[in-house]
Amino acid sequence: MRLSDDFISEVKYRNDLGELAASYMQLKRRGRNLVGLCPFHGEKTPSFNIYTENGSFYCFGCGTGGDVITFVMKIENLDYLEAVKFLAQRAGMSMPEDDYDDSMSRLRTRIYEANREAARFYYKKLGEREGAEGLAYLRGRGLADSTIRHFGLGFAPDSRFSLGDHLLSKGFTESELIAANLVFKSRSGRGVVDRFYNRVMFPIIDVRGNVIAFGGRIMTDQKPKYLNTSDTIVFNKSYNLFSLNNAKNSKSRAFILCEGYMDVISLNQAGFTEAIATLGTALTIDQATLLKRYCDEVIICYDADDAGQKATARAINILRSAGLVVRVLRIPDGKDPDEFIRRHGDKGHAAFKNLLESSGNDVEYRMLQLRTGFDMTTPQGKLGYLNEGVKILAELDNPMERDIYASKLADDTDVAKPSIMEQINRLTRRKASARRKEDFKKMQKNLSARDDRINPQHASHLRAATAEENLIAFLVNNPDKQGYIESRIKADDFITDFNRKLYLYFLERIKNKKDPMTAISADFTADETSQIYRIVNAYSNIRSTPQALDEYINIILEEGTRMTANDIANASTDDLSEYLRKLAEQKK
Ligand code: UTP
Ligand code: MN
Repeated sequence: MRLSDDFISEVKYRNDLGELAASYMQLKRRGRNLVGLCPFHGEKTPSFNIYTENGSFYCFGCGTGGDVITFVMKIENLDYLEAVKFLAQRAGMSMPEDDYDDSMSRLRTRIYEANREAARFYYKKLGEREGAEGLAYLRGRGLADSTIRHFGLGFAPDSRFSLGDHLLSKGFTESELIAANLVFKSRSGRGVVDRFYNRVMFPIIDVRGNVIAFGGRIMTDQKPKYLNTSDTIVFNKSYNLFSLNNAKNSKSRAFILCEGYMDVISLNQAGFTEAIATLGTALTIDQATLLKRYCDEVIICYDADDAGQKATARAINILRSAGLVVRVLRIPDGKDPDEFIRRHGDKGHAAFKNLLESSGNDVEYRMLQLRTGFDMTTPQGKLGYLNEGVKILAELDNPMERDIYASKLADDTDVAKPSIMEQINRLTRRKASARRKEDFKKMQKNLSARDDRINPQHASHLRAATAEENLIAFLVNNPDKQGYIESRIKADDFITDFNRKLYLYFLERIKNKKDPMTAISADFTADETSQIYRIVNAYSNIRSTPQALDEYINIILEEGTRMTANDIANASTDDLSEYLRKLAEQKK
């Protein structure tokens, strides 16, 4: 069963894409469209378009497109049905009862419920005798009871069955608990065993308040120190961040990015609710893109050790590429933020605030790192520093920034600023043109790779496929021409299978008096949906006169009858004369 078209139309009608998207990103009006930086890939010049006339979007950078439902699926990481529910709720509509299949979305809900119940269970254990050791551990690390409650920290008892038994008694099934990664199937094959035991537990909560995963810390020096939930259908560690739910509600638009759970919790306790951490992996571009929705600036606050510094250099690039302003905070004496704050006791807040205020931006940080590698008392050292420094500055997009650091470089090396600027400008020009070419090539390659996947015949029948796409765009935008178009060209005349499928789909809908586009995101995969919106939205850029329509049709017919060299070599005399006859007919 599926949701009715009427319902979907209503949902779309009541959720304006432009307005909804504006709550996730900045949009500017350009003619009839809205444009902005694509929220689905990192970019610095806007290639994300919203077509207000038909409520759809398409990004020319990454080739993602669709309607308001697709947008919500992508940006909230939901499946189709959940996205429709999300939008229905937003518009104050209730979902029709039970006439659709949502086993997947039901399983997700069950996992959220199981996780919530597990968090409750772990938290409760802290107050019981079984959890005394866990509570002592957390208090021993300087956490107030109110902090423990606020983060819902807990304790997984030293037994392999306590959580599993508890959740089974609450009506969860083994397969639900396995899907949540809270338990494993036991080796003996009978029953299940807990994933976490004898650890203090850190629930991971998403921006909507769902408990999506856990981290569990062992209380001794054993390894692994932290055990985390593996990826499940509600959790992907590369897409989520610890404590983003708190940071999102902080007043600050500058978030503090740490390495560990305890860093974030200590910072919160000291009043810095804008702290967040990755989940045991290096920062990903998806996490940076997610962050960009909630803040403008990120202050990297990684451990002072070598690994932390390497990770800092990497994170700077990723965050910058997502369009965030980056600063780097250095903690004195090789400590992590948690240890730093604890060491300052009552003055933790003030001490950290000090560090925050003195934290340099990422360029300063990189220049400083660079400088330590050269002996600045020798001319060779200065020259080496200068050459490398100029390279860093040439990467910067902001000319003011370049100017400021060029002054600093001039001061540090006693070289005149104009000659430094000249060198920077030369590198910048060369880089910019190389990057433009590179970006363009990459984009073309990505887009055509996807086009080929969706429509594998596209590349080898370029002329026909383009005409087919133009024809489809024409049909969708002029459904009243369906009779004429169908009288001139049959689905069999189409050359590429994917476009033929689209032609049949749209004809069918138009003949049944349904809006051609309403159910696209339900009836096609995400990649197919993107492709369809590319085709349909190109309508404003193609010729749309009746003559142009005839031309598209003629090209398809012509390409269909055209024989390849290979065909001709293998053809019989009869086939050939038949072919010539058809050609002559077309010319008439
Ligand atoms: P760290 O090793 O820096 O530990 O790991 P920490 O955060 O300072 O932990 P404490 O203070 O000793 O309790 C940083 C982060 O890396 C992930 C965790 O998310 C941790 O918070 N990690 C670390 C793991 O996932 N597994 C591990 O075994 C270790
Ligand atoms: Mn630590």
